[in-house]
Amino acid sequence: MCGIVGYIGEKNVVDILLQGLYKLEYRGYDSAGIAVIDKDSNELKIIKKVGKIRNLESSMKEDGFFNINTEIGIAHTRWATHGEVNEVNAHPHYDEDKTLAIVHNGIIENYNVIKKWLEEKGVKFKTETDTEVLLYLIKYYYKDDLKQAVLSALKHVIGAYGIVVISKKEPGKMIGARNGSPLVFGIGKDDFVLASDVSAIKPVTDNVIYLEDGHIIEVTKENYKILTLEEREVNAKVHTIDWELESWEKGNFPTYMEKEIHEQPNTIINTTRGRWFFEKGELKLGGIEPVRDLLKKTKKITILGCGTSWHAALIGKYWFEYYADISTEVDYAAEFRYRNPIILEDQIVIAISQSGETADTIGAIREAKIKGATVLGITNVVGSTIARETDAGIYLHAGPEIGVASTKAFIGQLTVLLMMAIYMGRMRRLSIEDTLRVSEEFKKIPDKIEKILKQKDYIREIAGKIIKYNNALYLGRGVNYPVALEGALKFKEISYIHAEGYPAAEMKHGPIALIDENMPTIVIATKDFLYDKIISNIKEVKARKGQVIAIATEDDEAIKSHADYVIYIPDTIDMLTPFLSVIPLQLLAYYAATLKGYDVDKPRNLAKSVTVE
Ligand code: AGP
Repeated sequence: MCGIVGYIGEKNVVDILLQGLYKLEYRGYDSAGIAVIDKDSNELKIIKKVGKIRNLESSMKEDGFFNINTEIGIAHTRWATHGEVNEVNAHPHYDEDKTLAIVHNGIIENYNVIKKWLEEKGVKFKTETDTEVLLYLIKYYYKDDLKQAVLSALKHVIGAYGIVVISKKEPGKMIGARNGSPLVFGIGKDDFVLASDVSAIKPVTDNVIYLEDGHIIEVTKENYKILTLEEREVNAKVHTIDWELESWEKGNFPTYMEKEIHEQPNTIINTTRGRWFFEKGELKLGGIEPVRDLLKKTKKITILGCGTSWHAALIGKYWFEYYADISTEVDYAAEFRYRNPIILEDQIVIAISQSGETADTIGAIREAKIKGATVLGITNVVGSTIARETDAGIYLHAGPEIGVASTKAFIGQLTVLLMMAIYMGRMRRLSIEDTLRVSEEFKKIPDKIEKILKQKDYIREIAGKIIKYNNALYLGRGVNYPVALEGALKFKEISYIHAEGYPAAEMKHGPIALIDENMPTIVIATKDFLYDKIISNIKEVKARKGQVIAIATEDDEAIKSHADYVIYIPDTIDMLTPFLSVIPLQLLAYYAATLKGYDVDKPRNLAKSVTVE
């Protein structure tokens, strides 16, 4: 997704904007640019480049951009939605006489209508973007009050936007506005920052305001004012960022993804801290306490998400039904929002989203609320749109996840779902005895994950043997079936090798036709009550010359006679195996991608947060 930074103040503006762009790199982008107002000439100075931010930085050095005397600027990383990837379409966009400059994240749905209207008034567009249309709409209303011009223009706009606009006619002011695309405002000692997320604000200040949909903010060097589109003044709450910058750094890992895979034992500790009291078998989930009565009486849960969050939802379904006896359905957020879903009385909808900004999931939440559901959010970003639009919810407290391929957030989502299932189970037939048994076993999971991580060199070796193939099949049964889906997603999204996950029993209904010596099959074959059936599936693959990599329970010697490679994981109770079986699959994907020389943190075509439909 696009990244936005705006800064006004006495510090080195150009450097702050550039460093802000580097902090936003993880969101995925294909071009970047910066615009500042030169104090000496009072001219707009703009520089844009396709490709990595380091290309932009070297051009800035060549062009002397760092020597410009300025106190205000905007910057942008673009993830193309309208118009191809080229310098002209890169942001910031500016008008023909370089009075105004804008950066934008989101999609203007009715930009074609507005574009035609402006062309009839003589406007000549030089790009294919919706952003340039918004720029000229603002210019159409602009006399000498930028805030008024932006307010007038936005009244005609349908769609999602997070924007920052500056004008050389009012060099000491920047205007921000958000509707559907996040925009955070940072309050420094003697400066102000606007950005798509707190990562670009943290180097300047810890004090932030999360702007709401329909908010517009006018920022000068001295002060700021937040208004609604109806020009009603807003007194917004100032939050303090509660994590340190190094959590954005890679530490001594070569990539964010490897760091985040290895953080997972700690993620579980952070997510359960102050919430799950293992020795007493007690759960304190303050975030959903306000809807406790409803949690007690609800007879139906629907869990929504996209991608990895949808896989977490599928696993959550097993837990809500097993521990809390509550009928639970799972749906893709994008499918749910358009299928005219049936919402029963007292139904709970749970929306899972690491970023808290996924457009499909936000749309599904809004549909669920229109139909009368109470919606709970499970997100990792404080103050995110989903955190604010749901009726109640639980934060992962997993710390920022930078790698586009989700790993520690997935483990955090599973942890929250398990806690919710047990919490609601205890309101029903789940005994304290059974709760203590799960608590006792769950407490050991972080150490068991550490033990699996120690096999990373062996798993890297196996990855080296399968990267020559163009396909892979992932199989699992029961609560490990969604883990097979997650393993396949990890593999395909960073190694670009086609991989698909299937319920193992389904293999004979089609996919077995694919099996031959060029189709490795990764099977989750842990010792549970379906073990014998999964061994039969392995035999079916072997009978067709397929290679089998088995994820097996340690001390299972028998499986060595069936599989080509065995990755052992510690034993645990069946319902908790997903916390362990997913770890080798994350590492397998990671090493396949790195052995192929790909950028695992920023896989091609992908963005960390998909804030467009
Ligand atoms: C997972 O590795 C992918 N990056 C992607 O499927 C992701 O899970 C999906 O886009 C949902 O994102 P969210 O959790 O931020 O809503």
